[in-house]
Amino acid sequence: MAELLLVDDLLWVWTNPIGVGIYDFDFRNFFPCRQPWQRPQELTAVGRCGALEDYSTEYDNLRDEGVRLIHTPQQHEIASELAQWYPLIEGRTPRSKVYQDAPSGQAVAETFQFPVFVKGSRQTSRHQKSLSIANSPEEFEQLMARYASDPILNWQSVVVREFVPLRHVEKNAQGKIDSSFEFRTFWWKRQFVGAGRYWWEGRAYQWSDVEKSEALTLAESVACLIDVPFLVIDLSMTADGEWIVIECNDGQESGYAGVSPISLWQNILEIERS
Ligand SMILES: Nc1ncnc2c1ncn2[C@@H]1O[C@H](COP(=O)(O)OP(=O)(O)O)[C@@H](O)[C@H]1O
Ligand SMILES: [Mg+2]
Repeated sequence: MAELLLVDDLLWVWTNPIGVGIYDFDFRNFFPCRQPWQRPQELTAVGRCGALEDYSTEYDNLRDEGVRLIHTPQQHEIASELAQWYPLIEGRTPRSKVYQDAPSGQAVAETFQFPVFVKGSRQTSRHQKSLSIANSPEEFEQLMARYASDPILNWQSVVVREFVPLRHVEKNAQGKIDSSFEFRTFWWKRQFVGAGRYWWEGRAYQWSDVEKSEALTLAESVACLIDVPFLVIDLSMTADGEWIVIECNDGQESGYAGVSPISLWQNILEIERS
């Protein structure tokens, strides 16, 4: 059951554990929390209740109860749909094209060189390599046939992206995409509030101070361009040593990956306090 918590007398959180360790965080264990018997008629809350299947409907339902989620449906789309965020940050992320219907291999070859990276406009199917990388037009068409029957992919628009060789960290088991030198960053009202390894389960890797500062400079410019209250930006270093944005997401929906949720929420509370 989702519940409304007032954290540290400052921040309303609409929270619901979803049973996923990397997503859930029990605020009560780390911060003073209250559920005031009387609450304001209208309040703004940050959601931490999993990926909402229909954000817009959920938003309206909550608003009817006097709870305004921190992102309007439009801001949610800007943060999480590649078709929305890509045009705002073109040049800082691999060149991409969104197709409403699966294109032919030939059509893709007119715009991209192979290999290409392929995903849904929101996400891949659990990081499966064979559903994400196509080496030829023929392979691309085979992949599209599998998209049609994949439960995660079949409802999303198809996104084709330039394949950018990334700084390698390690190969992964079970046909998953290789881990690269990637970091997840969280931004609250355009301010940096947390970063950590994107591939948090496998081999440890760390950025140097210089690498971190270069990555955050890029991410900060992206946070200003996208300009929604609670943004996640995933960044990777390419094999050539340059930082690029891999994707953006709604901070309400994103797993913490290697980011410490305690320091993340402390930083957010700090901003709210000032
Ligand atoms: N254009 C690309 N070129 C090369 N590798 C990519 C590209 N886009 C993504 N990747 C790799 O694939 C992984 C998964 O892609 P991502 O867009 O993050 O999918 P998801 O939304 O499912 O997390 C990334 O973490 C990165 O390692
Ligand atoms: Mg990702």
